[in-house]
Amino acid sequence: MTPMLRCVKVSSMIQETIIITQNTTGKAHIAPMGIHVEQADEIIILPFRPSTTLDNMLATQTAVVNYCDDVRIFAGCLTGRRDWPLHAAEKISGQVLQNTLAHSEVELLSIEEDPIRPKLICKIVHTVNHRPFMGFNRAQFAVLEAAILVSRLDWLPLEKIQAELDYCRIGLTKTAGTRELEAWGWLMDLFAQKAAEQTP
Ligand SMILES: Cc1cc2nc3c(=O)[nH]c(=O)nc-3n(C[C@H](O)[C@H](O)[C@H](O)COP(=O)(O)O)c2cc1C
Repeated sequence: MTPMLRCVKVSSMIQETIIITQNTTGKAHIAPMGIHVEQADEIIILPFRPSTTLDNMLATQTAVVNYCDDVRIFAGCLTGRRDWPLHAAEKISGQVLQNTLAHSEVELLSIEEDPIRPKLICKIVHTVNHRPFMGFNRAQFAVLEAAILVSRLDWLPLEKIQAELDYCRIGLTKTAGTRELEAWGWLMDLFAQKAAEQTP
């Protein structure tokens, strides 16, 4: 008899999104963040301290989660390009990315304190679909991975980052469009600059 395969859920799913928060004067802050999806109407945002996203959420209790396939925004935020077109949220005081496929407006429910990475437990109060999801793309995955690697330039050895970037480049060169190539270029410029600074 064939043994039955059992799936054991060990952790919540993580989705890479763009979080937009506001400070008390209404100034928007855009940051890529991996959110943990706990239930249909509940997510957890985990910012590493210090974080403007964390400060803004504590001050205003709200955020907009953008589900976005324009990877230039992920790469742009990490390379100093944070000025992306926005419009007003519908049910909360907040801002939405113009170029997002969908977004959720969330309110802070509670905080699990942690000196390194507190958990912000949030309730989804409103979700809007703007455009259809058109399928997976390997170059977008490659840019996301590269953006995460570049965001860890200060912790990870350069050789490890270089090796993983080389692997990501395979999917990129086979499947990228102009947005993905532009985003990749920004990340590689920053990587080259940091690598030069770290090389004696
Ligand atoms: C795909 C992706 C996911 C990320 N997820 C997180 C995250 O969950 N928490 C975090 O603190 N930073 C995350 N980062 C790095 C932040 O976007 C970046 O450090 C940012 O500046 C956060 O700090 P801020 O809130 O002060 O803007 C992620 C970066 C990328 C590219």
